[in-house]
This record gives sequence, C-alpha cells and structure tokens, in this order.
Amino acid sequence: MKVIRSVKEMCAYAQVKRREGKKIGFVPTMGALHSGHLSLINKARKESDVVVISIFVNPIQFGPKEDFRRYPRNFSEDRRIAEKAGVDVLFFPSTQGIYPQGYCTYIRVEGLSNKLCGAFRPTHFQGVATVVAKLFNIVQPDIAYFGQKDFQQVVIIKRMVEDLNIPVKIKSLPIVREKDGLAMSSRNRYLNKQEREKARILFQSLQLARRLVEGGERRAEAVARQMKRVIRERVPEARIDYVSIVDPKSLEEVSKIKKKVLVAVALWIGKARLIDNMLIKV
Ligand code: PAF
Repeated sequence: MKVIRSVKEMCAYAQVKRREGKKIGFVPTMGALHSGHLSLINKARKESDVVVISIFVNPIQFGPKEDFRRYPRNFSEDRRIAEKAGVDVLFFPSTQGIYPQGYCTYIRVEGLSNKLCGAFRPTHFQGVATVVAKLFNIVQPDIAYFGQKDFQQVVIIKRMVEDLNIPVKIKSLPIVREKDGLAMSSRNRYLNKQEREKARILFQSLQLARRLVEGGERRAEAVARQMKRVIRERVPEARIDYVSIVDPKSLEEVSKIKKKVLVAVALWIGKARLIDNMLIKV
C-alpha cells in the first residue's frame, strides 16, 4: 500500500490512473478505522481498480467547543488496518496541505445543512461539504463511498455533487452495527464500560419506532414522544439533542407517516455525542 501525504502527488497519481483507464474508488475518512469503514473499503475493492482512502481529521467541521483535539488518532494502527483490507493508496494530507495560508473558500449546501445535526452543529456541514469537494478534486474518484450512519451527510454530499456537477458517483452503504445494535463509530471510543452499555438505547429507541409504525402508528409526534420516553426511562442521564422523523430526501419533519421516513436520533452519553438512524417503510 502506498502512503501519499502530498496533495500534489495525490493529484498526479490520480491523473495517471485515470489516463490508464483505471476506475478509482474512494473512501474518505477521519481515521480511527472500524468495521463500518471496512465495509466501504470492501465494496470499493469489488467495484474499482484502485482503492484510495483518505485519513484527515478535518478541523473546519468541528465547532469551537467540539472534540477536534481529542478525536481519536492512531495512524500506525489505521495504516495496518487499511493495508490488510487491500487499500492501494492511503492519502494522509496535513492540515497545511488542505488549508494552506490564505485559504478562504467554503461550500454551503443551503437548507439541508441546518436541519437535524445542523441545528446543533451550525458550521459542521459547511466543513464537511468543503473538505469532501476538495478531496474529490484531489483524488478524482469515479465512485465515493459513505456510510448511512451519517445519513444527513450523504444527502448533503449527493446534493452538492449534483449542484456543482462533480463527476463522481456517490454510494451509501448500510450501517454496520455491533452485536447489541450499537452503530459502529469512531466516537464509541469515548465511552467507558457503563456508558457503552447505556449506548444501546439509541438502537433500542429506533427499534421501538419501527414496532410502533409496524403496529399502525402514523403520528410522527407520537412515535418521537414514545422514543424520548423510553430513552429517559432507561438512561435518565442521556442528553437528547433530537429525535426526529423526517422525509429521507428533503430531511423535512413529517407529521403523518404516509411513506418511507427516516427516524433519526442524536444524544449525549457522557462526553460522547452519538447519532443513529433507521429508514422505516409503511
Ligand atoms: O464521515 C466522515 O468521516 C467525515 O465527515 C468525512 C466525510 C471524512 C469528511 O471529513
């Protein structure tokens, strides 16, 4: 596996591969690789000739009081995992490489970016859209892979790619879960043993939502209310950012559940802000 740290070298490598007619599959990450990332890498390996992953903890997608400094970083472990997974190129740029002195261009995907997590993390999706657009320009992928745990991120990136005519196909893959249902996330590393146990509540609340809808409940407000009740009963110390039932395309809240909806939850357990979601059909 080749490790490329320079933006210029990554661009040049991608250009050569494209000229050779090779299909580039790309998995952008912030490192702390887990099985969720591996499912994206495996899919990329099946569908492309060259698999590139990036590891870049993007400072501009963290708010001033967020966890940028303590975000898990373990390059040698990530490198080992990536190599074992059959990655061809690990792109590991520096902050200076991505945002050199004088950098001042940002991408804002209006509307979609201030819903759900965006209401609590006002500059987050601007940071994500900006870095992903830059990474697409540098890596020049044919296909890029994202996990559905960050459902809103995927919706925003698809919109951006369409709006800016970026020639890349976006694929999103199902959430990979631990045995007890907890969605894989780099931030799960913040949880101590007791908190880890309590974190099951996210998936449990989503399962409750599914049961309610399957049982005929169509009032979104009633489903959200029951989910909050069960969270508060089982994990009273959890701080809920939101429990929302939205249209999966527009991310607008729905009041009646008439077709497929996205049920999304974000809450804090200790120092970890955890998110999860489920698509529910009627
Ligand atoms: O999902 C992530 O890990 C990040 O938001 C991404 C897409 C790598 C952009 O920094």
